[in-house]
Amino acid sequence: MRIDILTILPKLLEGPFSDSILQRAQDKKLVEIHIHNIRDYSTDKHHKVDDYQYGGGAGMVMTIEPIAAVIDKLNSEREYDEIIYMTPDGELLEQSVCNEISLKGNIMILCGHYKGVDERIREHYITREISIGSYVLSGGELGAAVLVDSVVRLLPGVLNDETSALTDSFQDNLLSPPVYTRPPEFNGWKVPEVLLGGNFQAIDKWREDQALKRTKERRPDLLKDE
Ligand code: ADE
Repeated sequence: MRIDILTILPKLLEGPFSDSILQRAQDKKLVEIHIHNIRDYSTDKHHKVDDYQYGGGAGMVMTIEPIAAVIDKLNSEREYDEIIYMTPDGELLEQSVCNEISLKGNIMILCGHYKGVDERIREHYITREISIGSYVLSGGELGAAVLVDSVVRLLPGVLNDETSALTDSFQDNLLSPPVYTRPPEFNGWKVPEVLLGGNFQAIDKWREDQALKRTKERRPDLLKDE
């Protein structure tokens, strides 16, 4: 998979991609992540990337030309399956969306700022708009990092135990059951007896029951369409 991220704040994205699972996935050549600074494509002598909005009102709007220049250049080099715009008014990011995007080959992600991008970019280039939640971030970069992390961990070979993404919370519309490790007792707080017993049928049953209980208590909305 290849991911191209278009941003005016490339430094914000360097950290999340240069550690742990995302760095390892790139080292193993399972994913290529390229960050493009939109400012480098501005032909304005001050490298401006925003302007006042037509009709008046507070807040700047990201201009078309530099964004179109990066997208046109990338489009001329390879075919993209999706050009995603990170925006609070996009489709909510859910596990099913991550699963779907993880099956794509090449994707571009555009990070917005200020009041957003000129609507014509959205109309003519963007194929999908994604929000990471019902709150407003200062820009799309942190959202893009969330999207990339949630997608890349699903790529075959990225996680050591390939089955572990399948047992994640949400993959079956259930939250994960509680987990424990050593010691078996701390401060008098005990690990549930069944997990210590080695009866794997009983353990599976306990985990299923716990997952269902947790989901009913915390996210009953996940159970609604079943
Ligand atoms: N940009 C600003 N807020 C955002 C959000 N909630 N999700 C994605 N991109 C954003």
